[in-house]
Amino acid sequence: MAARRTGGKVAIGAQQERPAHVVVIGNEKGGTGKSTIAMHMAVAFANAGGRVGIIDLDPRQKSVSRYVENRVETVRKTGVILPVPTVYTMAGDGIEELAELALTAIRNEELLIVDTPGAATGLSRAGHVFADTLITPLNDSFVDLDVLGRVEPETHRVLAPSHYAELVWDTRKERARQGRAALRWFVLRNRLSNLDAHNKRAMEAAIASLAERIGFTPVAGLGERVIYRELFLSGLTLLDLRRPGIAVDLSVSHIAARQELRALFNAIGFTGLIPNA
Ligand SMILES: Nc1ncnc2c1ncn2[C@@H]1O[C@H](COP(=O)(O)OP(=O)(O)OP(=O)(O)O)[C@@H](O)[C@H]1O
Ligand SMILES: [Mg+2]
Repeated sequence: MAARRTGGKVAIGAQQERPAHVVVIGNEKGGTGKSTIAMHMAVAFANAGGRVGIIDLDPRQKSVSRYVENRVETVRKTGVILPVPTVYTMAGDGIEELAELALTAIRNEELLIVDTPGAATGLSRAGHVFADTLITPLNDSFVDLDVLGRVEPETHRVLAPSHYAELVWDTRKERARQGRAALRWFVLRNRLSNLDAHNKRAMEAAIASLAERIGFTPVAGLGERVIYRELFLSGLTLLDLRRPGIAVDLSVSHIAARQELRALFNAIGFTGLIPNA
């Protein structure tokens, strides 16, 4: 099987010889939910029966690699069978090594997820060039928006693209030079709170005008939910909580979080990954 694009959608179950679809989760701003989203996407795909690999380009924190290690440990300790994404580990930090690793993963898997660090590194930049789909999570704050574009304080009009938007622009040019299909770029807001309605509306307006200016699709975001922080140590995701043998009581907040993830994956073309029940 390989990831198959059908009318802008990505589905499981195409022919073996098709290379993996590559999703890069990127933003030069730290702590926006990149690794959390990478892990949830990988597990959603694996739980749906797909073959999924992860490349972790954050050699200092290794959050997503550690998340997968914790999952393996939970399987070992509890005996519960959980699909585990394959982590492709870099031995060094060379760009040639990354290219080799990525090509191997693209051959072996249906979906390859590349998690990048919250800082501008050469490796992260090189990782972006493999993306068929780029997902950029932002915290719901003008501080985070600033890495995409400068916004006028009074009107929220976009004044100029910022450094991360320029990196994506360079990535697009490189893809075009290589004769590859256009990059799909989605931006979502993470850790949305119910409280600050004024900031939320202002961010929405600024993101909409920035989307037109620098060429991304805004997609519905994820709420602030403590469960994301709690799950890391067990290597579990919101998508595992209904499995027999997993002792987490499902709350209304967990169900809402699951719906948000489903809406996010649907919006970027990964439909049907999370069952509707
Ligand atoms: N929707 C959410 N609600 C609550 N906490 C969240 C949410 N998303 C992420 N977090 C928490 O926020 C912190 C940062 O998330 P994460 O490590 O995924 O971000 P990151 O963008 O990968 O960070 P870095 O740039 O440092 O790699 C973690 O503690 C994570 O559990
Ligand atoms: Mg991270």
